[in-house]
Amino acid sequence: MRIIVAITGASGAVIAERLLDVLKKKRIETHLIISEAGKRVMDYELKNFREIRGLSTFQYDENEIDAGIASSSNRADAMVIVPCSLKTLSAVANGFCDNLITRCAENMLKLNRRLVVVPRDTPLSLAAIGNMRKLKLAGAVILPPNMAYYYKPESVDDVTDFFAGKILDSLEIEQDLYRRWGDGP
Ligand SMILES: Cc1cc2nc3c(=O)[nH]c(=O)nc-3n(C[C@H](O)[C@H](O)[C@H](O)COP(=O)(O)O)c2cc1C
Repeated sequence: MRIIVAITGASGAVIAERLLDVLKKKRIETHLIISEAGKRVMDYELKNFREIRGLSTFQYDENEIDAGIASSSNRADAMVIVPCSLKTLSAVANGFCDNLITRCAENMLKLNRRLVVVPRDTPLSLAAIGNMRKLKLAGAVILPPNMAYYYKPESVDDVTDFFAGKILDSLEIEQDLYRRWGDGP
């Protein structure tokens, strides 16, 4: 299995870090693209993008539009954009392939492959809601990092695990990062 993971300039790169950590342990091939804004926001969130890159199999910058994964002939099984800024959400929803991230997302949509988008912002503008609707209609999974309380999270790590677990569920990859409803106390 080959998965593209993109980190953009929204808050929450820690979710991508946890996801990549699990995928690495499962020996799943990952192709990581970090946007320039993504790198900057990580600096504010005390995450070092070089460390996160180390969790992936292959790494790219957003301007590497000639990378193998830019072509739909280069088979990727799925792609996750986590976190997804509203800017990248808009670009993908409207087919604006201005960098490697939006180009790869376009490939996923045109080939009906799994695209999981984790848009983060609050509150939401009408434009953002409209772009999410467009992407949902195009076949993407829209997975905002909205936390739940029913599984009784005790730490930020628990909350992060919940989001990473939900992404893995969407990719149909086995995970035990959070306690499912009905699985006991
Ligand atoms: C500290 C910081 C936090 C940000 N958080 C968000 C966010 O949560 N959601 C969002 O849509 N944009 C956020 N932004 C703005 C984006 O980084 C900006 O729109 C950028 O152009 C996105 O570019 P990209 O999609 O190419 O990564 C944030 C910016 C900064 C500096």
